[in-house]
Amino acid sequence: MKFQRVFGTLPKTQASAPGRVNLLGEHTDYNHGFVLPTAIPQRTTVQIGLSSDDRHHFYSAEYDELINFSDDDTIPQTFVTYICGCIRLVEKEGYKIPPINLYITSNVPIGVGLSSSAALEIATLRGLRALLDFPLDDVRLAQIGQLAEIRYAGLNCGIMDQMASSLADTNTMLFLDTRTLKYRPLPFPAGTEILVIDSGETHQLAAGSGYNKRRAECEESARILGVKALRDIADPKAVEVLPEPLKRRSRHVVTENNRVLQAVKSLSAEHFGQLINASHASLRDDYEVSVPAVDALAAILQSIPGVFGAKLTGGGFGGACVALVESGKADVIASEAIDRYQRAGYTGRVLVPEVKLN
Ligand code: GLA
Repeated sequence: MKFQRVFGTLPKTQASAPGRVNLLGEHTDYNHGFVLPTAIPQRTTVQIGLSSDDRHHFYSAEYDELINFSDDDTIPQTFVTYICGCIRLVEKEGYKIPPINLYITSNVPIGVGLSSSAALEIATLRGLRALLDFPLDDVRLAQIGQLAEIRYAGLNCGIMDQMASSLADTNTMLFLDTRTLKYRPLPFPAGTEILVIDSGETHQLAAGSGYNKRRAECEESARILGVKALRDIADPKAVEVLPEPLKRRSRHVVTENNRVLQAVKSLSAEHFGQLINASHASLRDDYEVSVPAVDALAAILQSIPGVFGAKLTGGGFGGACVALVESGKADVIASEAIDRYQRAGYTGRVLVPEVKLN
């Protein structure tokens, strides 16, 4: 067993958590708004055992790297950031974590907007909960994961990714109100399935990226408009008084929240698809988090028969596109999209369904 090869002992427990893809409700979570993600089949798995010395030892099979960590060390900025962050925060909740050996394997793609870091956080937290039997529920695990990201990785993110990784499955969409944290699973529109294609442009959302800037712009807009968060505004006309670029940023958030609320009322594939397309346009033009490669891929997908709608998914600045497509047609649509994308000068890769077509 690989764990044994690295650590010389057997693991005591194992846990895993999925990545996610978001269908609608992009950049609404840190505005207390609504989101509609689903889990993807790709997962991160951790095996955990007790360390035989006074340090933690973390091994990533993907990076083939072993990192040793003592409680009083500064948290390094690498794959262990999320693990160390979760350990620190669980200890702050009052649960002592003994030195552990932790072995990670993952097939969640990194840097494409499918929440590989949330999958690692939730897998780690689930593993620690199984090892030590502490009574933190799935929502609390998501809150701790989000805090680890904000405090230790420098990404001022919302809670969608961690809630999706902790609570969503691949058969339903998770309709989540990020203010109340009330959630419910919803079926996909009848006769549809999900296709996810990587644009080949990886993104880096953490500190220094446009992500934190967008969040600050939203908070500034809410302050000027006199509301707690942009979620409190339903009428897009209300943002017209704002100066640019705050007006465009806020218009995206307000219209995006409205799109999620419309989508959950009428789950017809056609209507849902139009809302997805409108979301992409809004992310591109008002929120300005898309890039030319992702726009090209979304446009190609949107023009293929059998595609109801396509948009960038996740934080943006690169990453993947999600499309809602007619059931049974994902493979055919994927090959056509990859082909046309290549002719436009880019290299794409199909991530969901998990078949390797290219
Ligand atoms: C990243 C963040 C999420 C969310 C999305 C955009 O994935 O981690 O909290 O803001 O971007 O919808």
